[in-house]
Amino acid sequence: MELIDNYGRVLKDLRISITPRCNYHCFYCHPLNMEMSDPPGTVSVSDVRHFLAAAASLGMDAVRFTGGEPLVRRELPQMIEAAASTPGVRDVAITTNGSIFRQRHKELVAAGLQRVNISLDALDPVIFRQITRGGNVEDVLDAIDLSLELGLHPVKLNAVVIGGVNDGEVPALTAMSLERPLHVRFIEYMHLNNAPFDEYRRQFVSGAETRRRIEERFGPLEPVETHPSSPARVWKIAGSQGTIGFINSVSEPFCSHCSRLRLTSDKKIRPCLLTDLELDIAWAFEADDPVVALKQALQTAAGRKPEKGSTLPTLRQRVMLGIGG
Ligand code: 5AD
Repeated sequence: MELIDNYGRVLKDLRISITPRCNYHCFYCHPLNMEMSDPPGTVSVSDVRHFLAAAASLGMDAVRFTGGEPLVRRELPQMIEAAASTPGVRDVAITTNGSIFRQRHKELVAAGLQRVNISLDALDPVIFRQITRGGNVEDVLDAIDLSLELGLHPVKLNAVVIGGVNDGEVPALTAMSLERPLHVRFIEYMHLNNAPFDEYRRQFVSGAETRRRIEERFGPLEPVETHPSSPARVWKIAGSQGTIGFINSVSEPFCSHCSRLRLTSDKKIRPCLLTDLELDIAWAFEADDPVVALKQALQTAAGRKPEKGSTLPTLRQRVMLGIGG
């Protein structure tokens, strides 16, 4: 059984945002004045279990838990366990800021966590603290070391490049891929935070520009093969252990190979990151047979997945923090 949308795309990858809360406050993800609690009706462990059973029966086989920051949710290990024990699910990952990974890694790995994507926008402690509004880069570097020690391969690092803020960090972040098998991905800044349009345009840096700066410093990059549905175009510096990827969602959208659906923590399916459309499926979790109802909801959502999203700056109903990466 496969979940196929109206444009022939096979939907395989599920992103589940389990909380809108985050202990960092990166301006590119959300404006500061957001409510910081899990309201009643937030997706529960048994909701996740039912949703995954439905999704896996439709052939979705990769799950990534996001937030907000997924590690601030107490029940994350139970959710990982639910994913790892769902027949048909072959990949269980999280996207995290890494800040409290050291405190929680044992229970996550024991539950069946296979992989981590860690957000890291700067190595300079001052720039890092400025972007995250108070974060300590040492905590994140420790989480990266620990992920490698635990063998959570491939360990991917996400950096959103913002002109005038952290574009000067690109060489240092690139160098993270030299000695260790770290996969650094430079992500184009998407207008998902309702920033003033002119400020957004001023701060946007294209992946092509980032790549030019890297090649200026490290020499020509060598191409690395990737799966066609992967959003990153991947390269490496000759002789390095890791790779350098570019996720050019704005300048080179990859909508035609998009294989993703998202569930938000308030039980809405968001078929496209870059389209406000959401389907409220709270009813399906309450049904007598939630798995059957959720299968139906997933099929409806797949049928509503837009052909492409829009990266033009516009006022969004929901900012990135509530959608999850
Ligand atoms: N543009 C691009 N990427 C973003 N992320 C969050 N907000 C944005 C944005 N406006 C990324 C973060 C994190 C992941 C969850 O989403 O880098 O790694």
